[in-house]
Amino acid sequence: MIEQFKSVDINPLIFWMKMARGKEIKPVLTLIFVLFSAHYIVNCQTGTIQNIYGRDHVSLNGRWNYIIDPYEMGYYDYRHMPFDASESGKGGFYDDRKPKDKTDWVEYDFDLAPTMKVPGDWNSQAEKLQLYEGTVWFRQKFQADPKPGKRYVLYFGAVNYESHIYLNGKKLGMHKGGFTPFQFEVTGKLNKGENVVIVKADNTRHQNEIPTINTDWWNYGGITRDVLFAELPATYIQDYKIQLAKGNLNKIEGFIQLDGKEKTQTVLINIPEAGIKQKVTTDATGRANFSFSVNKLIYWSPENPKLYSVEIEAMSDKITDRIGFRTIETRGQDILLNGKSIFLRGIALHDENPLIPGRLRGEGDMRMMLQWAKELNCNYVRLAHYPHNEQMIRLADEMGLLVWAEVPVYWTISWQEQATYQNAEKQLTDLMNRDKNRSSVIIWSMGNETPVSEPRNVFMGKLVSTARSLDDTRLIAAALEISHKGDKVVVEDPLGEKLDLVSFNEYAGWYWSSVKDMLNYKFDIKYNKPVVITEFGADALGGFHADSDTRWSEEYQEQLYKNQFTMLTAIKGLRGMTPWILADFRSPRRQHPYYQDFWNRKGLISETGKKKKAFFVLRDFYDGIQKKYN
Ligand code: GCU
Repeated sequence: MIEQFKSVDINPLIFWMKMARGKEIKPVLTLIFVLFSAHYIVNCQTGTIQNIYGRDHVSLNGRWNYIIDPYEMGYYDYRHMPFDASESGKGGFYDDRKPKDKTDWVEYDFDLAPTMKVPGDWNSQAEKLQLYEGTVWFRQKFQADPKPGKRYVLYFGAVNYESHIYLNGKKLGMHKGGFTPFQFEVTGKLNKGENVVIVKADNTRHQNEIPTINTDWWNYGGITRDVLFAELPATYIQDYKIQLAKGNLNKIEGFIQLDGKEKTQTVLINIPEAGIKQKVTTDATGRANFSFSVNKLIYWSPENPKLYSVEIEAMSDKITDRIGFRTIETRGQDILLNGKSIFLRGIALHDENPLIPGRLRGEGDMRMMLQWAKELNCNYVRLAHYPHNEQMIRLADEMGLLVWAEVPVYWTISWQEQATYQNAEKQLTDLMNRDKNRSSVIIWSMGNETPVSEPRNVFMGKLVSTARSLDDTRLIAAALEISHKGDKVVVEDPLGEKLDLVSFNEYAGWYWSSVKDMLNYKFDIKYNKPVVITEFGADALGGFHADSDTRWSEEYQEQLYKNQFTMLTAIKGLRGMTPWILADFRSPRRQHPYYQDFWNRKGLISETGKKKKAFFVLRDFYDGIQKKYN
């Protein structure tokens, strides 16, 4: 069935709408067709390739023409019917159509349209787009010389939020989720010479999506991460995992997955520096699971972020990656890295450059953020509240920073919507697949501050089981809910039962109590597990000085940090923290005209890069902790 549709390229939606226009059709049939067409569209995507940067590719980054389309004129006709589901499939902006002659009527023109940088959010690139939520169309042209026996893939690091992708006027598919990669196989769909890729990006927020409508970060829209065009052998190494087995410093475990006709091949795993040469054979599905013992490895740690060059060589393809080997586990209330108890000296951060507000634009921006964390004497970062750029994780590998990675299951999600759950699970799976070979990533987080209810517990519980089924070598966590009983801060969120850590956000001294009386509060934590505080903090306008009782002042934030250390170090199982937050960040929820002006000011670094007093208080605290754990 799919085959027939695919080869003649007719979309089942056409069939359904023809039926709908005046012919009786049973509701069940309607449902089947909708599900079938949705399935059809999405399936132009292929399993995301592991380590796309290690493949033959050209970057399609650069200046792309764009058209702002608040009424989605380029997608729907005046009857609000999608053009790409119409008879001809023609009419939408993805045609990149030019008027045939002076009599012809065309109401858009990419050639005359302005350009903006890709990767990059649109909000920081055009004044009128700063607060814009809706559709923007992007067009890029590129040259291709497709060769027989080769396969071709268009890869997107991330597009926020819902994107529809077209190549040479034909729809490749759509994707939801603003922070995870996706790709389309375009073998056989390329012109020899000029090709046109068009992206409809829509960052409109909706209740049933992930994230939902209410977040405390800027809803940056656009093609925010790299766009790559890759050339691959007919049978290529699509995916692999090469890591130490759970809690075992002497066993490497993993798999190799080939994609293509020649499924059964001998594949060599070569780690020259470690003297490891291992042959595995893929089965009829192109997969080889393996485990083999190792001894003289230098284990990856923040103090010594050793990365090995790992070569995977199949008969038809070869890929090299830089991989660190470490184990991470818990024992009682301890967190063990390579078998040794560790304290996670962390800081939280958003994927945003405070100096030029907008998504981090490249390695320079990312290194700046992680370098600031290093100056705080951190060995750990919480990348909040969504998957950050793959390059950021690879930098954490290189710079020696442990990572808490999270999916944007944030606040009031539509827990009972099946599609919402599938969306969340897909984003989680895509994140875990992308970064499974990164030694820096030690914790997968299922979400943040999600209100306790039965539907929520079920939803989050399913995410936890999915994560455990995909990866038993890392810790599974979430920022749990807390409650208050008198001067007790109670942590008994039922989700905690299923997790490896007890993690929660607590804003003593800011959202509840004050810097003066916060020390009267005690934590009452139900679980005997390592406690890793995911957030605490206070807003301070950089450069605003007053006494330590005056909110918004650096002195208030400074004193609050000192008091937090007193409160938190009283928790017996405390094994880590990520104060909120490394740098001030943009938020549409922060309207105080003087102190905030659309900035969340809980950063330890201001939007001008100024280190606030609390920055040094935290650094000194971490110096002390480091001595204790050495
Ligand atoms: C919340 C939330 C953050 C938010 C912070 C704040 O706990 O997790 O996303 O920015 O508190 O209020 O500053």
